[in-house]
Amino acid sequence: MSKYLEQKKESIVRVNRIIDNLQSVQDVKEILEKYKFKHDKLLKQYEKLSRVFEFHKGIIQNISSGIITIDLSGNITFMNSTALEMIANKSENMLGKSMEMLFADREEGHLIINQLLKLNKMFESREATLVDINGEIIPIGFSTTPLRENNSDGTTGYIFIFRDIRELINFRKQMERMDRLATLGELSAGIAHEIRNPLAGIKTSAQVLEESFSPGDFRAQLISRIVKEIDRSNKLLQRFFNFAKPSRPKPGFHQLQNIVDGVYLLLAPKMAKRKIKFHTSFDEHLPSIYIDESQFEQVILNLFLNAIDAMPDGGDLNVSAVFDKSIILNEAPDNPGAIIIAVSDTGRGISPEKIEKIFNPFYTSKSDGVGLGLSISSRLLEENQSRIEVQSEPQKGATFTIYLPHVKNNQE
Ligand SMILES: Nc1ncnc2c1ncn2[C@@H]1O[C@H](COP(=O)(O)OP(=O)(O)O)[C@@H](O)[C@H]1O
Ligand SMILES: [Mg+2]
Repeated sequence: MSKYLEQKKESIVRVNRIIDNLQSVQDVKEILEKYKFKHDKLLKQYEKLSRVFEFHKGIIQNISSGIITIDLSGNITFMNSTALEMIANKSENMLGKSMEMLFADREEGHLIINQLLKLNKMFESREATLVDINGEIIPIGFSTTPLRENNSDGTTGYIFIFRDIRELINFRKQMERMDRLATLGELSAGIAHEIRNPLAGIKTSAQVLEESFSPGDFRAQLISRIVKEIDRSNKLLQRFFNFAKPSRPKPGFHQLQNIVDGVYLLLAPKMAKRKIKFHTSFDEHLPSIYIDESQFEQVILNLFLNAIDAMPDGGDLNVSAVFDKSIILNEAPDNPGAIIIAVSDTGRGISPEKIEKIFNPFYTSKSDGVGLGLSISSRLLEENQSRIEVQSEPQKGATFTIYLPHVKNNQE
């Protein structure tokens, strides 16, 4: 007889023996009660366990950091919802796929995973870039810890905990930009001063010399030319000086529409010549903006001039403005919201390598450009508690977006 049947036979014999020994229905009841008691206890323990499980699951799913676990071959075994939202559609099944594939730079991903798996090297606050299923690159800061399951001494996998650090990186870039501008400002202020003094000396001497010739003398004409050139240099220095130390903003409440219309009137002939169409669309109840009017005009003028330069064969220049109550730009709690102004063109656009540089002083791609328009604009906006961002795709145009903090106007 096979072993299986042998076992079956034994258990039947055992049950038969129990039945033979049962004295009464009462006995059966007692045995069943005992089982029921045991089951109830198990049920309660099960409920308790599942509450603890749900609690832990809730923490892991709702935490704002992404969590991914991998097994010892580097394949994904778990992703919490933050991680899923960040890099995949919720429906996408990433389980079992190689973690390496999530890194934007595969080589870097390979290195990191290899160091983890082969050398058991943990990472702490390391930066890297992931890529989501749409190909968008997400800079992250991450740390790793070994994964040990209960009752096991060895590592069964690794946990990645990471955060999206796009905002941090933007902030860092802005700080760098401000730093560069400040250094440049100090430098040019120093130079302007140093050059202005000898220029003043040259000018006075030239004027004295000029008087010693009769007005018709060609030497007098040459000297008057020298004086004119000195005046021109002085003006240029003044411009640098303004850049180094922009005058303190004198903010007031203004209607954005008026400022934009004013700048447009100035440039309308130029736009018409280039066949550029101008459109505006403003929120119906756009609050007034609190800025230094002439500084803000300068910013809009710089953006319009750049847009015109970017559309030599015509196109559209659009200005839109919306009021977003949910954005908080400054710390004043009674002034929530921001006015978001977008200036977009349909011109040649800016390549990704260039876009990093366009706010740098003296960066220009134009043969007759100075490269100060955007750096001055971003500086002026900073002085007005605002900021500017750019988005562009080559050949499709560029959009410059200004975020102005909303300030309540008690007159309105
Ligand atoms: N709307 C735009 N479309 C395409 N490129 C732009 C646009 N605005 C700015 N740029 C780029 O940014 C550079 C810097 O602009 P800016 O600081 O105003 O200096 P400039 O206009 O003197 O070159 C430009 O040379 C150009 O390459
Ligand atoms: Mg310019």
